[in-house]
Amino acid sequence: MSPARDPIGVIGTGYVGLVTAAGFAELGSEVWCVDIDAAKIEGLRSGEVPIYEPGLERLLASNAGRLHVWTDLSGAFEHARLLVVAVGTPPTYSGDADLSAVRAVVDAIPPSDAHALVMKSTVPCGTGASIQRVLHEQGKGGLGYVSCPEFLKEGSAVKDFLHPDRVVVGDCGDWAGDAVVELYTPLKAPLVRTDIASAEMVKLASNAFLATKISFINEIANVCEETGADVVEVARGMGLDERIGPKFLQAGIGFGGSCFPKDVDALKQLAGNSGYHFQLLTAVIEVNELQKRRVIGKLHKHLGGLAGKRVALLGLAFKPNTDDMREASSLVLAARLNADGAVVTAYDPVAEEQARKLVSGITFADSPLDAASDADAVVLVTEWPEFIELDWKLLAEGMRGNLLIDGRNALDPDAVRAAGLVYEGIGRGQMAGSSERAGGSAAPADGTPSREPA
Ligand SMILES: NC(=O)c1ccc[n+]([C@@H]2O[C@H](COP(=O)([O-])OP(=O)(O)OC[C@H]3O[C@@H](n4cnc5c(N)ncnc54)[C@H](O)[C@@H]3O)[C@@H](O)[C@H]2O)c1
Repeated sequence: MSPARDPIGVIGTGYVGLVTAAGFAELGSEVWCVDIDAAKIEGLRSGEVPIYEPGLERLLASNAGRLHVWTDLSGAFEHARLLVVAVGTPPTYSGDADLSAVRAVVDAIPPSDAHALVMKSTVPCGTGASIQRVLHEQGKGGLGYVSCPEFLKEGSAVKDFLHPDRVVVGDCGDWAGDAVVELYTPLKAPLVRTDIASAEMVKLASNAFLATKISFINEIANVCEETGADVVEVARGMGLDERIGPKFLQAGIGFGGSCFPKDVDALKQLAGNSGYHFQLLTAVIEVNELQKRRVIGKLHKHLGGLAGKRVALLGLAFKPNTDDMREASSLVLAARLNADGAVVTAYDPVAEEQARKLVSGITFADSPLDAASDADAVVLVTEWPEFIELDWKLLAEGMRGNLLIDGRNALDPDAVRAAGLVYEGIGRGQMAGSSERAGGSAAPADGTPSREPA
């Protein structure tokens, strides 16, 4: 019989906390979850899953006997020595990470020589050291501290938890680090055991690098539009170079979500606060902001102006397979379209409830065809699988115009064109320099070059 697993506490039951809790329960640990959101805890107790994450509902249900949910720390503190912190660290107005939720957890932990905080929340490099200082000042220096950053991706979080590329453990070489390593041993993932500051930096640098790759290929796409190359072909050719690899080379309307924008900003601020100007990240952020707006330029180019034009958005979530709307590109698009006087209808398979809290001035449709009905233009914003195989002929028949902008280069241009639609992707060469204009447009077919909206 395998030895009993260490019980754990998980503080914060959002995307990371809930998946972590369910994952460790699946591996055999008793897990005490804590969240200050009483409604969420109530819902979890009655079997409700507060987020959309493929496979999570099943994992929670099949491990319900090992999962205990509370609104205070007492259960976790009584039963578990490792207290995993997975509270939010959203951006502040300055771009620094807001660590108030992390600080609230630190303040609430009672003194102990037998417990350790395991930091999964993404925090700036140096946070662990400052938390250890605060713990000493508060007479709680006996508490252990481990940095164990999380790399899961929303949409495949359960799989990512169970099959991580690597596990990073930053610690002082004490019992707590050993215990965290042991917790992850069944996953047989490559282990990077290091000091706390380096572990914190691995997380920030990884996200910043991925964001840089996205902004890089988006800039290449923009140059492709000027030169006639097709960025999809370019990325295919680049990605086969094993030093480069094919991932994160999909040009589109920019990155969003709860992690990349804030983590890139936080690293830039961290560098700035330490006296170093991180030029590259400044450009990555700027390119990403402009990229979201390029779709507006494309709509102007084809429709000649947006006042009164009907635009359908397919997808709102920041990426497929999640209902997370934080920093979604759709938020910028919808706001810009509204500002330009367009009439916006949108459809998303799961994110509508979250979107309604953040977006105003748009109508929500019940299906992609519904959204496209009577539209001058359709924009693919999130590449949900159900959009890839849409019946484009049926969609085209319901539209009043015929423009389709593929904001994720996810569609088959030939299939879209065969339905009588005008296809425009991001950096797709065959459309570069084209004077083709969408039918139903009020604009003259004068080949006016694309312009960025102010
Ligand atoms: N979402 C991701 O894909 C992802 C991936 C890797 C790392 N991260 C990092 O993990 C952390 C959590 O992210 P998330 O997306 O799960 O956040 P989230 O907003 O979905 O969840 C945070 C949860 O913490 C709870 N909370 C806040 N203060 C609390 C407190 N004092 N005590 C107990 N609970 C408290 C909130 O009520 C909420 O349920 C962040 O630092 C994030 O950067 C997120």
